[in-house]
Amino acid sequence: MDLAPVGLGTMGVDDPSVVAAALDVGYRHVDTAQIYDNEAVVGDGLAAGDREDCVVATKLWTDSLAADAVRAGTERSLDRLGLDRLDLLYVHRPRGDYDPATTLPALERVRASGLADGIGLSNFTLEQLRTASDSLDDIAAHQVEFHPFFRDEALLDHAQREDYPLVAYSPLAGGLVFEDPTIQAIARRHGTTPAAVAIAWVTSYDTVVTIPKASSRAHLEANLGAARLKLAPEDIDAIEAIDREVELFPE
Ligand SMILES: NC(=O)c1ccc[n+]([C@@H]2O[C@H](COP(=O)([O-])OP(=O)(O)OC[C@H]3O[C@@H](n4cnc5c(N)ncnc54)[C@H](OP(=O)(O)O)[C@@H]3O)[C@@H](O)[C@H]2O)c1
Repeated sequence: MDLAPVGLGTMGVDDPSVVAAALDVGYRHVDTAQIYDNEAVVGDGLAAGDREDCVVATKLWTDSLAADAVRAGTERSLDRLGLDRLDLLYVHRPRGDYDPATTLPALERVRASGLADGIGLSNFTLEQLRTASDSLDDIAAHQVEFHPFFRDEALLDHAQREDYPLVAYSPLAGGLVFEDPTIQAIARRHGTTPAAVAIAWVTSYDTVVTIPKASSRAHLEANLGAARLKLAPEDIDAIEAIDREVELFPE
């Protein structure tokens, strides 16, 4: 699946005008989830803007993953979003009612019936990804935590080898990157912000795209433009040397 380097994360977004503004400034990938309890808000924002060519993604929560619940859960999300079809439908977390042998075939049936274009996975381990590959025609994307303080090398490697997008969530570590002296120094050298440096670093990897959450038009525009920032090899080396031990969303 072709995804723009920067999309919009909407966890905590409760105002449709944020989504409409994102479309207006050029976002072409909007990410929500059942558990964010804002699919209707996101749907209102999509309806208020020009959503042509915009990838809309949502995620089935763990209580919609039993084989006989997948289709009804997808239909509820579509209804709240005001859409006939999702571009990307994820398994949010492989737990609760998740069973690869039954959940994934149910998702493939949803896809075959035209309700979703691609099936994505989120928060899977390498082992769980390998098992899932046996039951899915194609992994449309894998969405995982990825920022200067956390990255799973094995998952990055799998996405690059199998050639599907790795969607990096919480690229700003929810705001922690703003306080980091290494990232602050790189930002000063480039005359930009720590947010832009973190987004440029994440999107510098092949097949990695990201979905920072932002509320203001200024943040939306800055984040979209950040993927164009070219970091020097020494900047990348300095970020690579940061200790990566802050996982915001552990299993
Ligand atoms: N699959 C999963 O399990 C999972 C888990 C977590 C998150 N996600 C997805 O990833 C998205 C992003 O992650 P996140 O919301 O945890 O955190 P994030 O994107 O790392 O950080 C968001 C925070 O940074 C601020 N911000 C954004 N752009 C900024 C800028 N240019 N300058 C200064 N501050 C800026 C935002 O403030 P304002 O809102 O005030 O602009 C917000 O407080 C979520 O919305 C969700 O879609 C997925």
